[in-house]
Amino acid sequence: MERYPQLKIYLLFALGLLVILMIGMNGYSLRNQSKFTDPTPKKHSYNNNYNPNVVTEKFGKKKLDGIVCVKFQGRLGNSMFQYVFLYLIAKLKHLYPILPENFELFHIFEIEKTTLSAIKKPLNACSKLPEYKERWSTSYDEQLLTVPSNKSARFVGYFLSWKYWLGYEDEIRKLLTFKDSIVQKAHAQMRNITSKMEFDITNESVIVSIHIRRGDFAGSVYINYGHLTPNETYYRNAMKYFKTRHKKVLFVVGSNDIDWSRKALDGEKNVYFSTGNAAAEDIALLSLANHTIISIGTYGWWIGWMAQGTCVYYKNAMRPGSRFANNVRTHSLDDFIYPGWIPVE
Ligand SMILES: *[C@@H]1O[C@H](CO)[C@@H](O)[C@H](O)[C@H]1NC(C)=O
Ligand SMILES: *[C@@H]1O[C@H](CO)[C@@H](O)[C@H](O)[C@H]1NC(C)=O
Ligand SMILES: *[C@@H]1O[C@H](CO)[C@@H](O)[C@H](O)[C@H]1NC(C)=O
Ligand SMILES: *[C@@H]1O[C@H](CO)[C@@H](O)[C@H](O)[C@H]1NC(C)=O
Ligand SMILES: *[C@@H]1O[C@H](CO)[C@@H](O)[C@H](O)[C@H]1NC(C)=O
Repeated sequence: MERYPQLKIYLLFALGLLVILMIGMNGYSLRNQSKFTDPTPKKHSYNNNYNPNVVTEKFGKKKLDGIVCVKFQGRLGNSMFQYVFLYLIAKLKHLYPILPENFELFHIFEIEKTTLSAIKKPLNACSKLPEYKERWSTSYDEQLLTVPSNKSARFVGYFLSWKYWLGYEDEIRKLLTFKDSIVQKAHAQMRNITSKMEFDITNESVIVSIHIRRGDFAGSVYINYGHLTPNETYYRNAMKYFKTRHKKVLFVVGSNDIDWSRKALDGEKNVYFSTGNAAAEDIALLSLANHTIISIGTYGWWIGWMAQGTCVYYKNAMRPGSRFANNVRTHSLDDFIYPGWIPVE
C-alpha cells in the first residue's frame, strides 16, 4: 500500500515540467544565439562555478544592475575596438559586459570571462535588449554615451575612436595586457631579430616596426568604397622620416602580404621581415618597437598605440568625396587617428 500516492504524482509532474523547460530553453537559445555568440557555446553554458564577486571584480560591484552587449564583428583589430568600447560603457553605466562565450581575445589578453554563461543567463539574453547603433563609421558618436545608466542595452557598430575612452587610457592599457606566453615569445623573437641583424640597442639606435596592410585593403571593393592603400613610395618616405632622425634604425616588418612587402622595400638596409606569426603574435612583437609605421586599418592602429613612440601613418588613406568619406562624421579620419601621430604621403 502506498502511503503518499499524491506526492509521487507531484514529483512525476515536476520532473516532466523540468524536462520540458530544459528542452525549451535549449532550443530557444540555439535558435537565437547566432547574432551575439559563437556557434559552439553549448559546452560552456550554465557552468556551476559562478562566483559573482570574482566575475565582477573589475567592475567593482556586487550587484548586477543589468548587462551590456556589443555585436562583435570583424577581425582582431576591430574586435579590440569593440571590446574596449564595451568595457567603457559597462564601467560608465554600471553594467555587466557580455563577451562571446568563445571570444577570440580570451586567448590573447588577460581578459576576465564575463560571459552570459558565467552569470547563468540564457544565451539569447542580448537579442532582446534595446539596441543603439553608431551613426557613422570610423567616428566618435557621443550620443552613444548618453544611454541611461543601470539599464541593459546592446550596441551595434565598430566604435573606431580613441575619443570614447579619453581619460581612461591607462586602464585600457592594463585591460589589454597580453597573455604571458605571448609576451615571452615576442621578447624572445625581438632578441633573436636584433642578434641576427647584429643590431646593438643604444640610446642612439631605435627599432621601428612597419605594418604593411595589403590583402583585402588593396582590393577593388575597398578601393571603390574610398580606402586608399599606400604604395612603396609611402613606406620609403616613412622610413626616411626615422632615418633622418636617428643614427641607426632597425626596421621590423609585419604584413599580410610579405611578398609584396619584400619587393616594395627592396634595397633598403636593416630590414627584417617577420613571417610565421599568428596575428596576435605579430601585434605583440611589432609593439615592442620604439616607433612605428602603419598603413591603414585597425590592426596597425593598435600596434601604433601600444608601442607608444612616434607613429607615422598614411596621410591619404581616405579618398575625399568617396562613400567612405561620406559615412564618416567629419569626412576625415580625425576621430580615428591618434593625436600626435605623424602624417606622411
Ligand atoms: C546605478 O547603480 C549604481 C550602483 O549600482 C548607483 O550608485 C547609481 O546611483 C545608479 N544610477 C542610477 C541612475 O540609477
Ligand atoms: C630564437 O632563436 C633560437 C636559436 O636560433 C631558437 O632556438 C628559438 O626558437 C628562437 N626563439 C623564437 C621565439 O623565435
Ligand atoms: C647617448 O649616450 C652617450 C654616452 O652615455 C652620451 O654621450 C650621448 O649624449 C647620448 N645621446 C643621446 C642622444 O642621448
Ligand atoms: C605612389 O602613389 C603616389 C600617390 O598616389 C604617386 O604619386 C606615386 O607616383 C606612386 N608611386 C609609385 C612607385 O607607384
Ligand atoms: C627601444 O626599444 C628597446 C627594446 O624595446 C629598448 O631596450 C630601448 O631602451 C628603446 N630605446 C629608446 C631610445 O627608447
